[in-house]
Amino acid sequence: MKFTLNVWRQNGPQDKGRMETYQVDQVSDDMSFLEMIDVLNEQLIHQNIDPVVFDHDCREGICGMCSMFINGEAHGPGRGVTTCQLHMREFSDGDTITIEPFRAKAFPIIKDLMVDRSAFDRIIQAGGFVSVNTSGNLPDANATRIEKSHADAAFDAATCIGCGACVATCKNASAMLFTSAKVSQFALLPQGQVEASERVLHMVNQMDLEGFGNCTNTGACEVECPKGISIENIARMNREYLSVSLTTK
Ligand code: SF4
Ligand code: FES
Repeated sequence: MKFTLNVWRQNGPQDKGRMETYQVDQVSDDMSFLEMIDVLNEQLIHQNIDPVVFDHDCREGICGMCSMFINGEAHGPGRGVTTCQLHMREFSDGDTITIEPFRAKAFPIIKDLMVDRSAFDRIIQAGGFVSVNTSGNLPDANATRIEKSHADAAFDAATCIGCGACVATCKNASAMLFTSAKVSQFALLPQGQVEASERVLHMVNQMDLEGFGNCTNTGACEVECPKGISIENIARMNREYLSVSLTTK
């Protein structure tokens, strides 16, 4: 397969950036999108051109690193897949493909397609954890009964991989889907109840401090999320936040 690629090139955070056009051929339809970029980069290295910088790690939909906006969609045209799980057979031979970084004020561009998503780390640090007493006198975890529907919903929320597609897709660059998934995975379990109030307050406050926009319920985040995280989590987080805000000064 052959493709024409319009790729965003940007030397660093202060550079204005520009689109560059490249041709790639000898791409197999079994290649992943990232393997196709590897082919491009081999070609660029042979031409003494800087390879395209992009984030990746697991290449199997787990780590959430491969943040790319492909033909105007976060993680490209596939549903329920990350960029590394997208295969070139989803495109037609001869297609022109436009590749950009995830764009949001809170995700500054480091270089080319690589963005800084450490704002997500700081939201987690603000409260996305449970404090565990390791004194050795704890009851066995399996002894705590949890309603099946709550366990399932907590598990679903916990599948968020922190990729940032929800932010890149949202016209407001809101991080509500990510933050609400991280709040819900604990809020639904008894182990998460102890710190529930501080958690939702601190995480939402940090989200606002990082410069993410407000949610206006467009639902675009849910559509583009590779893990199918439901916007029901946003409603749950809003309820938790409101109830804590009304009961604390
Ligand atoms: S909610 Fe979905 S789109 Fe947003 S960071 Fe988590 S996995 Fe990615
Ligand atoms: S490289 Fe890990 S999810 Fe894509």
